[in-house]
Amino acid sequence: MSNFDLTIHESDHKKPKPQTDQIAFGRTFTDHMFMMDYDTGKGWHDPRIVPYEPVTLDPASMIFHYGQTVFEGLKAYRTADDRILLFRPEKNLQRLNQSSDRLSIPPIDEEEVMGYLKELVKLEREWVPETDGTSLYIRPFIIATEPSLAVAPSKTYIFMIILSPVGSYFPGGIHPVQINVEDQFTRAVKGGTGMAKTAGNYSSGYQAQAKASETGNADVLWLDGIEKRYIEEVGSMNIFFKIDGEVVTPALNGSILKGITRTSILEVLNDWGVPVVERKIAIDELYEAYQAGKVEEAFGTGTAAVISPVGELNWQGKQMVINNREIGPLSQELYDTITGIQRGNREDAYGWTIEL
Ligand code: COI
Repeated sequence: MSNFDLTIHESDHKKPKPQTDQIAFGRTFTDHMFMMDYDTGKGWHDPRIVPYEPVTLDPASMIFHYGQTVFEGLKAYRTADDRILLFRPEKNLQRLNQSSDRLSIPPIDEEEVMGYLKELVKLEREWVPETDGTSLYIRPFIIATEPSLAVAPSKTYIFMIILSPVGSYFPGGIHPVQINVEDQFTRAVKGGTGMAKTAGNYSSGYQAQAKASETGNADVLWLDGIEKRYIEEVGSMNIFFKIDGEVVTPALNGSILKGITRTSILEVLNDWGVPVVERKIAIDELYEAYQAGKVEEAFGTGTAAVISPVGELNWQGKQMVINNREIGPLSQELYDTITGIQRGNREDAYGWTIEL
């Protein structure tokens, strides 16, 4: 199969485009989507761009019963001179295949899918917003479609890409968020699916999220599943702390998602000569450092969240107010650097962006 096989069926109803700086994250979708099917005889086949519309599935489709699915999230940005850039998209397709491997889903051909993804974004380029802080969110995903209640990998799948113009992930734009440290529920354990982008990792966090939001928290900080002591990640992003001049982020341990923004931030910090370390970090160690006045900044990183400063952490009734709930200088500089590269306003010395 090659890009040549791609068929494009253009929609004749074009939807109005929203004011993207005002919409909630991931609520509006563009005019077209990409689809491709898999079966054990033909492999991945019939790549097509079609009008965005509901899909019909057999109620016995395995996705509905045992959650065999993976997804990705990346973004397309419009530059001031009207070019469209993608940020490290090859990393997302690599990670999609890693997630698929964990979920016993057959791999996609990353190069071919990159071609299809680019064609879809090119077709929808009018949907890429231009206001600062906005972008076109790209959501590739795979679902198991074999009609069967057997507890076994599906023999058929659909791969899809949908697009959504977005503003900031947390309502209210870039501002320090309040996060609850969850000490009852578990997101992931070693040997589980924590490092994969799969639906169950997110829906299993909803109860903790609901509990957190009752007390005004925007998200949950997960601890390890065994001792409930070591910091892992926030529901929608990886986490970094600046403690006594050194930046610390939890080391990847099999249950933490290897975020592409996380990797990029580590590279930038190393480049700047800022002391940075990936290691285990215990919540009680963080609290001690906080009490000693050493926690200078905290921020989350993610495709959706970009760089989201953390202004307050709540753990077992103890409150940690970080940097007076203001955006710290390092968080701000990282935000400006990453979004500058993504939007083409800063030199992309790393070669991270791809122009469509
Ligand atoms: C992303 O950052 O793209 C994600 O997939 C996180 C998501 C749960 C909003």
